[in-house]
Amino acid sequence: MTMPNTLAFDTATARRIEANYLTPEVVAQRHEIMRRLELKPGEQVIDIGAGPCLLTEEMARAVGPAGRVVGIDLSNEMLSMGRARCTGLPWVELGEADAVSLPFPKATFDAAVASQVYEYVGDLARALAEARRVLRPGGRLLVLDTDWDSIVWNTSDRPRTTRMLTAWKEHVIHPHLPRTLARRLKEAGFVVEDIGVFTFVNSEYGEHAVSHGLAALMAAFVPGRQGITEAEVAAWVADLRELGAADNYFFSLNRYLFLARNG
Ligand SMILES: C[S@@+](CC[C@H](N)C(=O)[O-])C[C@H]1O[C@@H](n2cnc3c(N)ncnc32)[C@H](O)[C@@H]1O
Repeated sequence: MTMPNTLAFDTATARRIEANYLTPEVVAQRHEIMRRLELKPGEQVIDIGAGPCLLTEEMARAVGPAGRVVGIDLSNEMLSMGRARCTGLPWVELGEADAVSLPFPKATFDAAVASQVYEYVGDLARALAEARRVLRPGGRLLVLDTDWDSIVWNTSDRPRTTRMLTAWKEHVIHPHLPRTLARRLKEAGFVVEDIGVFTFVNSEYGEHAVSHGLAALMAAFVPGRQGITEAEVAAWVADLRELGAADNYFFSLNRYLFLARNG
């Protein structure tokens, strides 16, 4: 079997991501997106790369039955989780589509969201042009992405952690997207109205912690990359557990939020 280049959103990964997205930190991140997006009843929204559709569902409740929320994703595993989550919300439509080719007419939506998606998209200029095309004039685009250099993690073996994080960066195409996103948005014709940051901080290691879920995703992805072995990964995870047990755990990561308008 050949190793996929970036993260494959198969059933196992989709389940790990969904569990991670139910942690209090990611719940708070969704609240932050909702706060910045200021959706109104009756609005039409597209969730680009909707994943397990937790945000799709929240947006559907905000726009209500007079509105419409469309979630698109490339992964059928993710979409089936989304369908289960959004039954009972008939104004939600979910379908398979690529961010670089949105199957909707020009000026369809009042708002668009791409949360933790564009870092996976190779032809970002095309994806941004598509987001702009389907937005009505004055419509807003909310993008959230991570700079994977923003991680601060207390571990006993820093060189090993650096290798783990270097290998993990291979899970996306743009591991440092926030640094260049404002320029890319402007080049696509958007007006960038606001740039914000949302920081995760964990001082405990346990299933409720976002970094616990991240470690599980990393542990599944990194073996065989940067010369990292399964045994090394197991030792790295054991170290996190021991630091947690010794009340010496610290993890932090930044998510960047961009609000842009189709001016
Ligand atoms: C990390 S998940 C984020 C899910 C969701 N946006 C959220 O924040 O809860 C990334 C999602 O983007 C989807 N994705 C990646 N590349 C895509 C593309 N080119 N077009 C559509 N979806 C894509 C993946 O299948 C996955 O479901």
